[in-house]
Amino acid sequence: MRTNQPKTIYLSEYKVPAYLVDSVDLRFELFDDGARVHSTLSVRRNPESADVSAPLTLDGDSLKLEHVALNGEELAASAYEDTGDQLVISKVPAGFELTVVTWIEPHNNTRLEGLYKSSGMFCTQCEAQGFRCITYFPDRPDVMARYRTRIEADKSTCPVLLSNGNDVDRGDLDNGRHFVTWEDPFPKPSYLFALVAGDLVEKQDTFTTCSGRDIDLRIYVEPRNAAKCEHAMDSLKRSMRWDEEAYGREYDLDIFMIVAVDDFNMGAMENKGLNIFNSSCVLASQETATDLAFQRIEAIVAHEYFHNWSGNRVTCRDWFQLSLKEGFTVFRDSTFSADVGSPTVKRIEDVTLLRTAQFAEDAGPMAHPVRPASYMEITNFYTLTIYEKGAEVVRMIHTLLGPDLFRKGSDLYFERHDGQAVTTDDFVKAMEDASGRDLTQFRLWYEQAGTPVLTVSDAYDAERGIYRLTIQQSVPDTPGQTDKKPQHIPFALGLLGADGEALPLSLESTADDESAPTERVLELTEASHTFEFHGLTQKPVPSLLRHFSAPVRVVYPWTREQLIFLMSHDPDGFNRWDAGQRLAVDVIQSLVGSPDFEVDPRLVDAYRALLSDSALDQALVAKMLQLPSEAYLIELSESPDVAAIHRAREKVLAHLATSLRDELLACFHRNAGAGAYEVSPESIARRSLRNTALAWLLMINDDTGRDLAVQQLSDADNMTDRMGALRALVNSDYAAERSQALSDFYERFQDDPQVVEQWFSVQSSSDRAGQLPQIQALLKHPAFDWKNPNKIRSVVGVFAGQNLAAFHNPDGSGYSFLGDQVCRLDDSNPQIAARLVTPLTRWQKFAPAYSSLMRSALERIRDKTGLSADLYEVVHKSLEV
Ligand code: BES
Ligand code: ZN
Repeated sequence: MRTNQPKTIYLSEYKVPAYLVDSVDLRFELFDDGARVHSTLSVRRNPESADVSAPLTLDGDSLKLEHVALNGEELAASAYEDTGDQLVISKVPAGFELTVVTWIEPHNNTRLEGLYKSSGMFCTQCEAQGFRCITYFPDRPDVMARYRTRIEADKSTCPVLLSNGNDVDRGDLDNGRHFVTWEDPFPKPSYLFALVAGDLVEKQDTFTTCSGRDIDLRIYVEPRNAAKCEHAMDSLKRSMRWDEEAYGREYDLDIFMIVAVDDFNMGAMENKGLNIFNSSCVLASQETATDLAFQRIEAIVAHEYFHNWSGNRVTCRDWFQLSLKEGFTVFRDSTFSADVGSPTVKRIEDVTLLRTAQFAEDAGPMAHPVRPASYMEITNFYTLTIYEKGAEVVRMIHTLLGPDLFRKGSDLYFERHDGQAVTTDDFVKAMEDASGRDLTQFRLWYEQAGTPVLTVSDAYDAERGIYRLTIQQSVPDTPGQTDKKPQHIPFALGLLGADGEALPLSLESTADDESAPTERVLELTEASHTFEFHGLTQKPVPSLLRHFSAPVRVVYPWTREQLIFLMSHDPDGFNRWDAGQRLAVDVIQSLVGSPDFEVDPRLVDAYRALLSDSALDQALVAKMLQLPSEAYLIELSESPDVAAIHRAREKVLAHLATSLRDELLACFHRNAGAGAYEVSPESIARRSLRNTALAWLLMINDDTGRDLAVQQLSDADNMTDRMGALRALVNSDYAAERSQALSDFYERFQDDPQVVEQWFSVQSSSDRAGQLPQIQALLKHPAFDWKNPNKIRSVVGVFAGQNLAAFHNPDGSGYSFLGDQVCRLDDSNPQIAARLVTPLTRWQKFAPAYSSLMRSALERIRDKTGLSADLYEVVHKSLEV
């Protein structure tokens, strides 16, 4: 905690470490009232460091130092300095052994960084800088060491003792205690260290790798969750196979473990050989987890597993390179999900997140490049830009190189840098070297923040049969960055004829029209380009930025006719969906703030066609039926009036529902569950369509939808249908049924924390059940827990992030509520506090009546005494602009 300004760290000031650590020997004595950590490091001067007289500096945070010895000799207090966050030993030999003993208090650790306790078990979270909360250490990712870890604890409360690598020794000790020793043969940075000790059961399985090695797979959970591991285990085996096939990456240790813990700041963590997961990202059963949860679990298991290569074997030199592992690994898990599910749907989901949330971040006060140049608190930089935009940047390299050269590039990257801590530039260099392509200009994607805007105009020259397309790009200013250069942008497109046929794209008049491709990736490198397509006998409809080939905004004067045409004719499924979104956005926007209105009948017709055509890809239809979210509509608007946007969207929904009642009913019944529950793309699409139809039917106040929802709630044999019906009722005007359904649901699932989290969310996100007084009541509910990040997110986070009309109440009550909760939380868990404040940081975006109230809520947080560095950075940066 501090009141003064935290220090800014600059990429330009990077220096190689003055000392390296070859091996670490750890001994943990775990007790109820604390833990003693004995650490012996073998240290040597780094031959690559110019600083030959540098002192040894070790990072530490909230540690009680009990003992420090150099080559076995206890150091006098005068031989070192404890600065509060560093232990500095000024005179050390070129090579030596350092022993440090620290005392820590896991049971009092509410920040959930370092070693802490979660429902009685000990566990760790060391990324990014949590290892320094365990012992003094050069806690930076370019110091890689071999770890040997001995854990000692009470045998009855902690029968299971886990760490990275292989278990090499175990035995009993006095006083009912025991120990296990683990050894990890792979050198790793301290952020990948992990330890777990508790009363856990294991689910065991085996995976045979491509070279025939048998890997022991284990998922550890609390005994009550023993039956909920199967899906995670299946996902793990699929991920292991996929990484062999798609990237040629084989697993390297003999054992791979996953542990589920209830209190966890993030989703999951890729510690070497011992991944630690938020329980909500592992545990699943048909009765308790929705399809969305099943898919999320599969994706996160894959993501953390894939880090074994992209992150662990090849790691980051410093935290500015975070996207090296996160962007690449998100790209990898997203390709995996596309391969095992529906590729178009996966692309739609990724782009929705990017356009709704990352574009907003890129346009806000915390905008930063994929490779930032400075930070105060690194945990604030685990952002949508590092992750999702970072993944898009890797995807663009994939598009520019094509699959074969991209694979050659990734092979080269892993081979060249195995065992090293490297930079995003090393990644791009490997791609260049393997492909022979020059990516100099492309590197601007890592350096320039902000979302490029492409303004497209076109003209058809009927006489010469030429269609001209002009694309201009500009990159907007962001905090600290102006006058940006044009970027290298892959722009995929197609042209459609009047009957929906894909037209050949000949860029030269001489080319043979028939053999020309019907889709091309144009490479934009200048501020403006004009492309001429020859041999066209009609003015085409352009299908722009297919598959969302670059993370940019496209501005083009589409007519509603063109959008309707693309919705049903574009051969690119993604662009069909996108055309539908643009049409719906246009219709809703034109109605915002207008007193009485009529919904364009063409929108109704377009949705009717979607609902009625069972020959269409039903997974895509399910997505196309989702209207653009309020958050997206707000993001797209200049000075949004949230209440007016909310009303316009609701009216369009109600109008569509009323006009399409018969089609919705037919769709609902057609998609009734057939046979046993399964989690396949087809049955997921069916449930999604059915639940969308149900939600819409409840907007017609003729009781049909209500009766169907009540029926579905009592018949459901899975959480997707149960939650679909509950959500529809909660968001309807049927107040009596809503409260009955909510209390029945709680009654049934109150002992399952993951389901209770969903129960909180469904209320907090609802403008009917989640107005401020109701949110305040949820915070007082016996199941709410201020120490559990999931509970905080499912009430406070969901309210401020998803219940936008209630949060942006014109009286400012939503803002001061969030401010109060953030301040309260900052004392116990600053990481979560700094994340939770995000919605307020976008104050500048809103109409003045809103923005001044948002700003004052931020100022009140700023004036709190003892602000954490995490919250300080976010609040100050967002007030400074
Ligand atoms: N390495 C991160 C977890 C992490 C993030 C630890 C920030 C410490 C600070 C992990 O690989 C990760 O990215 N997890 C994501 C989920 C993933 C599917 C994108 C998460 O936890 O949200
Ligand atoms: Zn990750």
